Amino acid sequence: MVFAIAGATGAVGREMLRELEESDLPVAGLRLLASERSAGSKLRFRSTEVEVEPLRPEAFAGVQVALFSAGAERSLLFAPCAVEHGAVVIDNSSAFRMDPRVPLVVPEVNPAECERHQGIIANPNCSTIQLVLPVKVLVDAVGVERLVVSTYQSASGAGQSGIEELLLETRRFLDGESPRARIFAHPLPFEVVPQIGEFSSSGFSQEEIKMIQETRKILGLPDLQVAATCVRVPVIRGHSESVTVDLEREIAVEEVRRRFASMPGLVVQDEPARNNYPLARVAQGRRETFVGRIRKDLDRARTLHFWVVSDNLLKGAATNAVQIAQQLACRRLVRSLATDPR
Ligand SMILES: NC(=O)c1ccc[n+]([C@@H]2O[C@H](COP(=O)([O-])OP(=O)(O)OC[C@H]3O[C@@H](n4cnc5c(N)ncnc54)[C@H](OP(=O)(O)O)[C@@H]3O)[C@@H](O)[C@H]2O)c1
Repeated sequence: MVFAIAGATGAVGREMLRELEESDLPVAGLRLLASERSAGSKLRFRSTEVEVEPLRPEAFAGVQVALFSAGAERSLLFAPCAVEHGAVVIDNSSAFRMDPRVPLVVPEVNPAECERHQGIIANPNCSTIQLVLPVKVLVDAVGVERLVVSTYQSASGAGQSGIEELLLETRRFLDGESPRARIFAHPLPFEVVPQIGEFSSSGFSQEEIKMIQETRKILGLPDLQVAATCVRVPVIRGHSESVTVDLEREIAVEEVRRRFASMPGLVVQDEPARNNYPLARVAQGRRETFVGRIRKDLDRARTLHFWVVSDNLLKGAATNAVQIAQQLACRRLVRSLATDPR
């Protein structure tokens, strides 16, 4: 299969390259695309150096699967060109996620959605992906009435420049200078900022609305009650979430642990007496999502609380995208270069 990565030089794009390299996908060709700033630079894939090319419509000639991670503006502009050239686009931006014609896929949750693609499949928001893994288990086991999630999202969620801002401004702060904010709403060092994206008239931020809408779409539950509070914290990599779920029927905590543990991609790390629960630093570089602090509400028998952590650049982005590419390959949903069955 011939692949392209649009946004190959970014925080997610570099992880996509690594995930592709470590996957069992047959990569017969690879085009790495980014802005004019990076054109001509080289990135390593397996034993070869691949030159980065500028993102242009003609770059998609002969490409079968195009992984997009260059922001929503670029996706809106170039994903249709890639589809016209015969590629299936797996888009990591928010550009197409809520388009009813576009499947929004987490392979452990709704893989069959890939089948109805019309050229574009959307990768959900990083915070949504790690949320729906345990929630899907509860939906299937006992039904879910309502979800309340508060996120603790790392600086890398805002890309390479988010990481750089946190490091630089932390250094400035430690040197006795006032930290500044360019990427984040407020200086992030030693701060917790309850804003990711602009606020809508409802009082919810863009990131919160994405989480609410995408969760409903992925789970196929348009009426599910969901409330989200999205918060940026001074962590470099790995998002954490506190989740409260009102269930339709009661379930024992031990049974929840057992069912979470049998969900592919989900790891139960839940030994509070030994201070053992998911941490962003431990989840960093891992493809799995970690769940712990699983407990029943003290007042409501059908309410459960837990803590979920995942690497936002891996399962929250690159790993999920490459898993979708694997779904395309094994379901034979990629157009062949020689004969086009579509
Ligand atoms: N970070 C996360 O945790 C995360 C998770 C899920 C989804 N996403 C989504 O993934 C996308 C990329 O995020 P990121 O965190 O990787 O951002 P990033 O580190 O800022 O990388 C952005 C990439 O896009 C390229 N790009 C920027 N402007 C361009 C232009 N005008 N033409 C062509 N290429 C251009 C950049 O190329 P240059 O290096 O040449 O500038 C770079 O390769 C965004 O849509 C984001 O919402 C991010």
